[in-house]
Amino acid sequence: MVVPKPEVKLYYKNVMANVIGDEHGITEKQLHEHLDELPEKIKTLRSFREIRMKEDAYRRLPYNTKTVEEVKKRVVKFSKNCENLVVLGIGGSALGNIALQTALNPYMYNIDDQQRQGPRLFVFDNIDPVQLASFLSWLGDNDKLDKTIFNVITKRGDTAETLSQFMIIRQLLLDKLGPDGCKKQVITTTDANQGILRRIANNAGFTSLVIPEGIGGRFSVLSAVGLFSAAMCGIDIDSLLAGARDMDTRVKCEDFYRNPAAINAAINYHFYKHGKKISVMMPYSYHLRDLADWYRQLWAESLGKAEDLAGNEVHIGPTPVKALGTTDQHSQVQLYREGPNDKLFTFIQVSNFDKDLKIGPAPDYAQELGFLAGKDLSELLNNEKRATEYGLLESERPCLTVLFDRVNAYTVGQFIYLFEVTTSFAGALFGINPYDQPAVELGREATFALMDKPGDEHEKWAKEIRSLTEIDENFLV
Ligand code: PA5
Repeated sequence: MVVPKPEVKLYYKNVMANVIGDEHGITEKQLHEHLDELPEKIKTLRSFREIRMKEDAYRRLPYNTKTVEEVKKRVVKFSKNCENLVVLGIGGSALGNIALQTALNPYMYNIDDQQRQGPRLFVFDNIDPVQLASFLSWLGDNDKLDKTIFNVITKRGDTAETLSQFMIIRQLLLDKLGPDGCKKQVITTTDANQGILRRIANNAGFTSLVIPEGIGGRFSVLSAVGLFSAAMCGIDIDSLLAGARDMDTRVKCEDFYRNPAAINAAINYHFYKHGKKISVMMPYSYHLRDLADWYRQLWAESLGKAEDLAGNEVHIGPTPVKALGTTDQHSQVQLYREGPNDKLFTFIQVSNFDKDLKIGPAPDYAQELGFLAGKDLSELLNNEKRATEYGLLESERPCLTVLFDRVNAYTVGQFIYLFEVTTSFAGALFGINPYDQPAVELGREATFALMDKPGDEHEKWAKEIRSLTEIDENFLV
């Protein structure tokens, strides 16, 4: 008997006007209008060469067997004597790594040696000195440095956060292990030719993985950026990419009524245009929580834009919010049901959990809990999702659900690819470039100026920034 492959599917009945009413729902006619306009809008978006190249680049990733081979070779080399893997990166150079690890490895992975099939994983996507100092003290005190591999990831190669972390680690490695030791413990992931990290890697002789041309950080999880740490930690990257490829077939479907990325983008676009400016993603699975974080960056940086493709000022973009079921039922749902009706909800629901627990018997003196006794915890979790959805529908709030048959590398690959292509389609409907991030660039450059990067321009600019952001005692209470 052929066992059907587990799938990720989009369920959209509960956004429809015939479920939540005409005022807040979408009619079939409206959905069809957006789907009908999508091909033309995609064509317009792709008529910009630079934009088309970026889409083509990330859509080629699931087929890039050369990268997979490279990654596997590096994994064999670095797995020997590696007890800890540290990723230094930020934004798209970290969020996918974190999401894959949370989704596909056990909760106690870092703590319980029996439950892990690779090194412990630590991803530093922040430069809080207290956090890093604590980690380094653990590393140094316990003499673990020569069993720790550092994967430095930056596409541009000059990101201040990542390179500052790297410079701390490099000095530590040089002091404790010398230049040869340092070389053995570092692997860089960056552009093939450009950037400061590339220059450092070439000069120091670090092993290196390449981020292909044209891949933006938030679209890079299926490149060496995400694949190396995943494979080091025992995640099946072949299945991950197979899932993405199979989803590619589905999102290539020209019949947009059967294309999950097209429907997802059209619904999201419609609700934004009809006053639902906030998109809440709420997985009912602890393991999928960081995929919502990954999605938050993908959605925010890709769709939040000042200008449309024609250069008009639009200041457009839905605000992505992540929530976790059931945790946030006891934190956010009061607002979601009774606050402003300005949100589109995307639940994530898992049909089959790989492990389950039976709720124990009720104590004699608490027999009113008997109705829960003997039931599966997953049944409670999924019923809580339905209860929350029901409450939101009663309050006329639109709800999508992404259904996972089960959570594994194959379905996570499908999910990632579905949302990447949804983002491209949504970019087309919004009429903006989903692949740039000019507002982030400004902050990056301003930081360089404030950190006294040489150059007259920087000096002048730093003065201006300081005068605007200096604490004014008159306003301090
Ligand atoms: O999506 C993006 O391009 C950004 O969020 C980047 O990932 C982030 O700014 C980090 O950039 P880099 O990998 O160049 O250090």
